[in-house]
Amino acid sequence: MNILILGSGGREHALAWKLKQSNKLKKLFVAPGNAGTASIAENITIGVNDFDAIGKFVVDIGIDMVIVGPEDPLVNGIHDYFLNDQKLAAIPLIGPQKMAATLEGSKEFAKEFMMRHHIPTARYESFTSKTVTQGYEFLETLTPPYVLKADGLAAGKGVVILNDLEEAKAELTAMLVDEKFGSASATVVIEEFLDGIELSVFVLTDGENYKVLPTAKDYKRIGEGDTGLNTGGMGAISPVPFADEKLMNKIERLIVKPTVEGLKKDNLPYKGFIFIGLIKVGDDPKVIEYNVRLGDPETEVVLPRIKNDLVELFQAVANGSLDAIDLEIDQRSATTVMTVSGGYPGSYEKGKEITGIETITDSLVFQAGTTVKDGKIVTNGGRVIAITSFGEDFKSALKTSYKNVGKLSFEGINYRKDIGFDL
Ligand code: AMP
Ligand code: GLY
Repeated sequence: MNILILGSGGREHALAWKLKQSNKLKKLFVAPGNAGTASIAENITIGVNDFDAIGKFVVDIGIDMVIVGPEDPLVNGIHDYFLNDQKLAAIPLIGPQKMAATLEGSKEFAKEFMMRHHIPTARYESFTSKTVTQGYEFLETLTPPYVLKADGLAAGKGVVILNDLEEAKAELTAMLVDEKFGSASATVVIEEFLDGIELSVFVLTDGENYKVLPTAKDYKRIGEGDTGLNTGGMGAISPVPFADEKLMNKIERLIVKPTVEGLKKDNLPYKGFIFIGLIKVGDDPKVIEYNVRLGDPETEVVLPRIKNDLVELFQAVANGSLDAIDLEIDQRSATTVMTVSGGYPGSYEKGKEITGIETITDSLVFQAGTTVKDGKIVTNGGRVIAITSFGEDFKSALKTSYKNVGKLSFEGINYRKDIGFDL
């Protein structure tokens, strides 16, 4: 099969690395990709939202399957675009259709979905510029901290958590009236603060059947001890040690099953990954968000633990035969540590030469913001390279990741030294 992956992060390098292991693969393309994907596949300079160019490439080259990495093209309706084009309709595309992708594209839609299907989540109400006063009143009924969420996609910055009521009111005004996040904050969801520990559960579904993939926990803040600004993710661990059989059974019964069944009941066709962000409050898992794709850097620890042929898994998703597949999971722990550009998640410079990659032999090197310039691999984004390692437990895996992070070098390199500190 000829396969095209859309995206350019560590997630897509990990997908490419995993697909390359399949003997069903003929040729692999990544659009637009990075220096890592260029080393194992062919990069194509097409943007992930340029559906016309993607469609033309798929037809011209004879692509047999498309894997969508990031949420943007899904929320913009790439799956529907394929279904509505005679030449593309029969080509399997992994990722939900536009309506189902709204689970990530609109927090209000996701909350209403959870209410409808009795899926445990934080109590909430949503507001617009016409109902700001009601928003203030709702805030007054809550106890701090206050959680305000821009309804739409806001590049991971749309959730604001504040301790002070007056600050929360001011933030609500900024979002709704001053359009702090543009149209993404035209509607704001205010919800009850959930006090607990986070984990993410990944599900692969063909719309009828599903497989629960390994759990993961990521570390979103830039600073040690979970301080400072939010990033795309500074590291991840799989499995999550506290996600024991009892908790996983509960998550499957109360959340995964009702989610997949809810999609069916609501007539929301879904072939792809569901990323369920959870907080465990006491013994009770509650959903904080749905994403309609794999996480980054969670993919860099989840995929290496799956022993199955990924092309076969995706074919089963396309054919609706996931029930015939037995998942085989590596019982070891996997950890990844993300190296980032100095200054990230604020402004940072690009084009810094990266050295040391080839000296790393006992970890997987997944490249994110990298490109090739004058024959050298240089930085090209905030998150640069993720170093994934295996171990009998997450601590021993982390030791290897950190040892190998030490071999990498580029000007301004930064990374968190405390991944897993809270476990
Ligand atoms: P999101 O962009 O939805 O992933 O939210 C960003 C982060 O905000 C999450 O990873 C949580 O740490 C936090 N968060 C979101 N909703 C809640 C909530 N209801 N209670 C506590 N923390 C939350
Ligand atoms: N690491 C979080 C995300 O991919 O959304």
